[in-house]
Amino acid sequence: MNSNANPANEKRLAGEAAIRYVEDGAVVGVGTGSTVAFFIDALASIKDRIQGAVSSSEQSTAQLKKHGIPVFDLNATGPLALYVDGADECDPHKRLIKGGGAALTREKIIAQAAQKFVCIIDSGKRVDLLGKFPLPIEVIPMARSLIGREIVKRGGNPVWRDGVVTDNGNWIIDVHGWQIADPVTLESELNQIPGIVSVGLFARRPADVVLIGDKVM
Ligand code: 5RP
Repeated sequence: MNSNANPANEKRLAGEAAIRYVEDGAVVGVGTGSTVAFFIDALASIKDRIQGAVSSSEQSTAQLKKHGIPVFDLNATGPLALYVDGADECDPHKRLIKGGGAALTREKIIAQAAQKFVCIIDSGKRVDLLGKFPLPIEVIPMARSLIGREIVKRGGNPVWRDGVVTDNGNWIIDVHGWQIADPVTLESELNQIPGIVSVGLFARRPADVVLIGDKVM
C-alpha cells in the first residue's frame, strides 16, 4: 500500500511542497485549515527568508504568530505574489469549493489579491463535478431566511451552520444537493443576491497550481 494515500500524510506533503513557491523577501498569503497548518509549520522553517504573511483567519494568525512570523494587513501590502490555501473540493479545471472552515470571505479576498494561487489538497478532494461537498455561503445574519428561500428556488437544500459565527461576524449556510456543472455562472448569480457576503465557489478566480500531496495536478 502506498503510504502517501493517507490523507493526513498527503496534507503534510502538500503543505511542505508549497514552500518551493515562496520567494525570498515575500509577504505570503496564507489560507486556513488542517492542510494549511502544515504549510505554516513549514513556513516557520524559512521565516528568516520572508517578510511575513497576510492571514485569512484568526486561526491561521494565531499559528503564524506562535511561530514568530509577522502578520500584515492586506491594505498595507498591496498585491501579493503568492497565496497558499487548501480546498474542500477541486475539479479538473482547478475550480474549487472552499469554506469548510468558515474562512471563505477572507480567503477569497486574498486569492483575488494574489498573482499565484497554489492550492494544497489530499487526493480525496479531487472530483469531476463540484457539489458533493455542501457549498458554504457566508451571509449577513438578517438575510439568512431570504437567502435560504432563494437557494430552494434554485433546487438547493440550505442548511444553517447553527452556532458558527465567522471572523467577520456573519453566518454560514451550507447548500446540499447541487451538482455544479457551471460553477462560474452559479458563482456570478449567487453573488447578486443581497445579503450574500461571499460564496465558497472559487471558479471565477480558480487556483493556478494544485498540489495533491507533493504532486502537481
Ligand atoms: C477553510 C477552507 C479550507 O481550505 C478547507 O475547508 C480545507 O480544509 P482542510 O485543509 O482542513 O481539509 O476553505 O475555509
